Amino acid sequence: MAFVIDGKEAAASVISAVTEASVSLEGKTGIKPGLAVVIVGEDPASHAYVNSKGKMAKQCGFNSIQHTLPEETTQEELQALVDTLNADLAVHGILVQLPLPKHFDSDAIIQSILPEKDVDGLNIANAGKIATGDLDTGLISCTPAGSMLLVKRVHGEDLSGLNAVVIGRSNLFGKPMGLLLLAANATVTMAHSRTKDLASVCRNADILVAAVGRAEMVKRDWVKPGATVIDVGINRVPAPEKGEGKTKLVGDVAFVEASEVAASITPVPGGVGPMTIAMLMANTVIAAHRACSLPVPKF
Ligand code: GUN
Repeated sequence: MAFVIDGKEAAASVISAVTEASVSLEGKTGIKPGLAVVIVGEDPASHAYVNSKGKMAKQCGFNSIQHTLPEETTQEELQALVDTLNADLAVHGILVQLPLPKHFDSDAIIQSILPEKDVDGLNIANAGKIATGDLDTGLISCTPAGSMLLVKRVHGEDLSGLNAVVIGRSNLFGKPMGLLLLAANATVTMAHSRTKDLASVCRNADILVAAVGRAEMVKRDWVKPGATVIDVGINRVPAPEKGEGKTKLVGDVAFVEASEVAASITPVPGGVGPMTIAMLMANTVIAAHRACSLPVPKF
């Protein structure tokens, strides 16, 4: 039976270090880290995420600002808000919750966020820094940064000699995750929906990272005995065993069977999920330190 990697505990330890850094920054400069979160439309899941980001920002001692805009907001109106937040010295981090309603050009909005305030790490300047191996001067996308922190808790800083397979090639997760594993010296394969014989590619992985968005797709025989499995999926599925009409969250990995083969595995919920918010707070306190020209805390 695999060791279950406790994302809640790892996230709590990041949050406690972020809070300490935030209190110390305010003590030195009188400045609180400011995080602005923008949400457009009514999607309940997005509202739930945004609410927990706001709550956590307050818990860290930040100035937490939320802008809730109606579904019919225009591109120009949203752009004007981002421009205002870019210019606001009290705002150190800006996050525009994705997905935006269909009528938006999301990429134009995301790319217009100043790189130094892009706490999602989605600006091409930040993505390019990771791609060129500069992990120190930009902002790293939160879910890959949080997943790496869990990988490093198991394997240490240096992944030399280890094969890593990432399933999924999105800009938000798969690509930066592959690059972070590579920067830590792993031998990386980026697999995706067009990969031939995905199961056998995965079976070669000492570190297997699943971010496909398909409930329990990674089966027992996809997992190399002794592997570390990081499950980035969050899928809501019917759970008739809990009662009629009930649902539950599962990952992209069939947890019970995979944990009979893996050495370490993240659960869903309680694995990578809590790390994403923790790293968003970490990015915000880092951005605030840089804005004050102070040495940046490490997490
Ligand atoms: N929607 C789901 N995950 C994310 C994320 O990490 N950042 C943003 N901006 N939106 C999201």
